Amino acid sequence: MSFSTESGNDIEKAKYWLLCDEAVAIPTETVYGLAANALQASAVIKIFKVKNRPAFDPLIVHVNSAEVIFKYVIEFPSLAQDLCAAFMPGPLTLILPKKDEIPDLVTSGLPKVGIRIPDHPLSLRLLNEINFPLAAPSANPFGYISPTTAEHVLQQLNGKIPYVLDGGPCRVGVESTIIEVVGDEIFVHRLGGIPLESLYKFTSKIQLRLNQSSNPAAPGQLSAHYAPRKQLFFTKNVVLAIEKASGKKIGLITFTDKSINGVQAIPLSETGSLEEAAANLFKVMRILDESDVDLIIAEYFPDEGLGRAINDRLRRASTNDK
Ligand code: TXA
Ligand code: MG
Repeated sequence: MSFSTESGNDIEKAKYWLLCDEAVAIPTETVYGLAANALQASAVIKIFKVKNRPAFDPLIVHVNSAEVIFKYVIEFPSLAQDLCAAFMPGPLTLILPKKDEIPDLVTSGLPKVGIRIPDHPLSLRLLNEINFPLAAPSANPFGYISPTTAEHVLQQLNGKIPYVLDGGPCRVGVESTIIEVVGDEIFVHRLGGIPLESLYKFTSKIQLRLNQSSNPAAPGQLSAHYAPRKQLFFTKNVVLAIEKASGKKIGLITFTDKSINGVQAIPLSETGSLEEAAANLFKVMRILDESDVDLIIAEYFPDEGLGRAINDRLRRASTNDK
């Protein structure tokens, strides 16, 4: 199916297409999502088609309140409820045992569903106006960098979807932190917009369970993700990487430096804010990917706060030492 894609901030238009069981792009605080009625397999299948996404990679379901989460899960552990009260709406996804109303297609056959409440006024209003939750992965072709503006969505999905609900640039800029409460522990499946430090306020029992791509039946994150088309070197030793790339045109991504060894850089935050750096990350990766540089070199960020999610995305995007 091909469309002449419209974009704007008209909730009624987004609602109209969702009621037609089509997929539309919606803004969230993390990245733009490609949304469809989560209760309707015939709508959800369009998300997989538009994204070229393999059926073994499950989708996150978006709702507008904790009460609605209760409607679709058979168990909501008290620690998960505490985390929900503290961080949702916000960049946290909870993996919870699903009820049958959520089609198996959404969870790729898994008994658990990832659910979150996006912290964006337009999408929350949209969710208030429809009586179904929205399944939504990031609105990029599978394997490419997630979109953080409506323009990013249009660059790749123009003609493939009827509507992009434009809510401006995404505030957080990296995807949600995905967690599962198991007994009295928190398993972290993806580092994201809620930093680990915030989770440690609730329990010291936190295990990182990232990157389970070797077993697609128990998905977490595929390692070849967030990848630009250009070669990207992610390194703690930028000076050495620059030396090795001599003669090539380098696109350099740094935390705060405007240049290193005479090579001009794009600092993600001149003031040293990891939040600002996260918000700029995907935009800058796209700019360099579309520029005339021969390769991209990205420096290692401080392994704290949102720096962990930034490093995770850069590692997955990199062509060196995965
Ligand atoms: O911030 C976000 O989470 C964005 C916005 C649009 O909400 N969404 C997003 O979705 O990043 P996506 O599909 O690009 O990434 C979701 C990841 C997938 O890689 C999948 O493996 C994992 O979440 N996931 C979803 N449901 C799961 C489940 N039931 N069990 C384990 N992992 C799950
Ligand atoms: Mg994605």
